[in-house]
Amino acid sequence: MLKVEKLNAWYDHSHVVQGLSFYVDRGEIVTLMGRNGAGKTTTLRTVMGLIAKSSGNVTFDGEDLMSSSAHKRYHLGLAYVPEDRRIVAGLSVLENLQLGLLASPNRGDMDAKINEIAQTFPRLKERLHQEGTSLSGGEQQMLAIARAVISNPKMILLDEPSEGIMPILVDEMFELFARMKRLGTTILLVEQNVERALSISDRAYILDQGEIVHQGQATELLKDVQIQEKYCAV
Ligand SMILES: Nc1ncnc2c1ncn2[C@@H]1O[C@H](COP(=O)(O)OP(=O)(O)OP(=O)(O)O)[C@@H](O)[C@H]1O
Ligand SMILES: [Mg+2]
Repeated sequence: MLKVEKLNAWYDHSHVVQGLSFYVDRGEIVTLMGRNGAGKTTTLRTVMGLIAKSSGNVTFDGEDLMSSSAHKRYHLGLAYVPEDRRIVAGLSVLENLQLGLLASPNRGDMDAKINEIAQTFPRLKERLHQEGTSLSGGEQQMLAIARAVISNPKMILLDEPSEGIMPILVDEMFELFARMKRLGTTILLVEQNVERALSISDRAYILDQGEIVHQGQATELLKDVQIQEKYCAV
């Protein structure tokens, strides 16, 4: 579904992503792992078209992405939950969710969609009319995820969804990802919580200094403590 070949990205003269190649098949959960600064966020941002200087080939569902605007990528069914959540200040939880549907190709019945998402995220349901930025950090992360999944994207890129979230909510969140997978959503996950990420993933890639240094089945990597210690310690 997503095929990335020889991807490069730069910030000014700093060559941060260096010739990455990886793929995600339809229906898979694939995790990108690696230490702080390895290039995980930059990789996701490049796939989404949010990095000014990049090169390489990226196709999504057979469409060439590198020549597409970020907007077009979204319309093709690619959703992104950034590391910093980006809840819009001054808007309620409900309005933030509606925003997730505004530009959606699958907008459908907005009220029905909001109801559906409220069932999945009971915490948000109780707080629909509260200002989005007044939610706790974990609740804001839920809102960011809800806002991305509300349009039924074909594939979602998640950047450290469990960061700063209490364990019980993290459990809920990972159950949600597993459920989304069962319902047919493809997921590319960046996560520091290696064990938990691998436990729901099919495969994983390990990044180090902008390059892929390992790849494999999640079950294999889960057993490989040496690799985890070498490349994934925070
Ligand atoms: N806007 C920017 N301008 C300049 N350099 C940047 C910028 N954003 C990131 N970098 C640098 O690019 C490298 C990769 O950063 P990136 O955010 O992709 O890493 P990461 O793997 O997501 O790390 P983390 O686990 O800490 O989120 C780092 O060395 C970082 O300092
Ligand atoms: Mg990052």
